[in-house]
Amino acid sequence: MLERHIFIIGMPGSGKSSLGRKVAANLRLGYVDTDRRIAELVGISIPEIFKKYGEAKFRTAEKNLLIRLVTEPPQIISTGGGMVMDPFNRELMRNYGVILLVDRPLEQILGDIKLDRRPTFLEGGLEEVERVYHERYETYHSAADLVLDNSKGYYNGVTNMERLIRSRFRLN
Ligand code: S3P
Repeated sequence: MLERHIFIIGMPGSGKSSLGRKVAANLRLGYVDTDRRIAELVGISIPEIFKKYGEAKFRTAEKNLLIRLVTEPPQIISTGGGMVMDPFNRELMRNYGVILLVDRPLEQILGDIKLDRRPTFLEGGLEEVERVYHERYETYHSAADLVLDNSKGYYNGVTNMERLIRSRFRLN
């Protein structure tokens, strides 16, 4: 059992969800992916939510979900890449948990990011990914309590994320 939430933050395509899901299963911790939860609640995909209702509505839904999740028992919460950019969300994350940044080199993200699942990159493509990477870099790093270097592949990422969490929370 965790005494605080673990908020996983980072760029789209950095590996937040795949690593978070696997590590939560390995450590037998609760897990939620905020994008997936919003899509389930609304009943349509994230790109469809953006298209039908616009980004501002999505951001409101994201914030409301975070407000709800922080009062639940601590778990691993994988967040959408824009969640921590909002100062109010950042404050909540700081107050209720530990913020873990998944840090993956831009070149690797550009190499395999799935643009069709990411409405904010629909127009600008890889150039927009690059712009957003640089725009968010400082905020991601200054918000993070823990930084996971995810430059050496999935299995290395899983092992190192587990190690970080075990030592931070003194789990066996
Ligand atoms: C967003 C990232 C997405 C999703 C939405 C907006 C962003 O999540 O929340 O498309 O602004 O970076 P992922 O980081 O899981 O792609």
